[in-house]
Amino acid sequence: MLNSKKNNVLLVTLTLMITTSLYALADSSTKSAEILANVTLKSVMQGLLKETQQLTQGIILQDFSLIAQSASKIADHPTPSMMTKIKLMKALGTDMVKFKSKDDVVHNSSVAIVKYAQEKNLAAIQQKYQIMIDGCVACHSEFKEKVASILNK
Ligand code: HEC
Repeated sequence: MLNSKKNNVLLVTLTLMITTSLYALADSSTKSAEILANVTLKSVMQGLLKETQQLTQGIILQDFSLIAQSASKIADHPTPSMMTKIKLMKALGTDMVKFKSKDDVVHNSSVAIVKYAQEKNLAAIQQKYQIMIDGCVACHSEFKEKVASILNK
């Protein structure tokens, strides 16, 4: 009787500790809403596609503010929830480094696009746009099917 009460207290304490540290983590990255809500990788990707379409439109119409706006949303795209990240890490193992490096290609090129949009440098934007799209496609070729089969089962 006494023992199970003790266990209960321990359990509650542990739960509180975990919850508190998760909240702290969420706060420290200022992405609390994203971590607490169940943001899936798929929904992140759907957002990326939407912004890529906007970016394409911006380039075709030479609308530099649209280019800057959409590229900065791609650069700072939401990250999937903690749960998804943990699943991803478990599934990919050391390949996580490769996966992350492809994400970096998309990130770095979109950051550059924002800068070139401010300078109204269309040629440089087009060059980075190509690198960015190659980053999307490279990751999909290597990981999309594998990751989808793990996350969506
Ligand atoms: C680091 C790897 C990686 C990069 C970079 C990446 N994706 Fe993805 N993408 C994935 C994975 C993995 C899936 C499968 C997700 C799933 O089905 O849960 C996916 C799926 C998608 C989907 C399909 C979503 C659906 O509804 O099934 C779209 C659209 C998409 N990505 C767009 C993009 C665009 C646009 C870019 C570049 C701006 C991009 N992705 C860059 C890994 C990546």
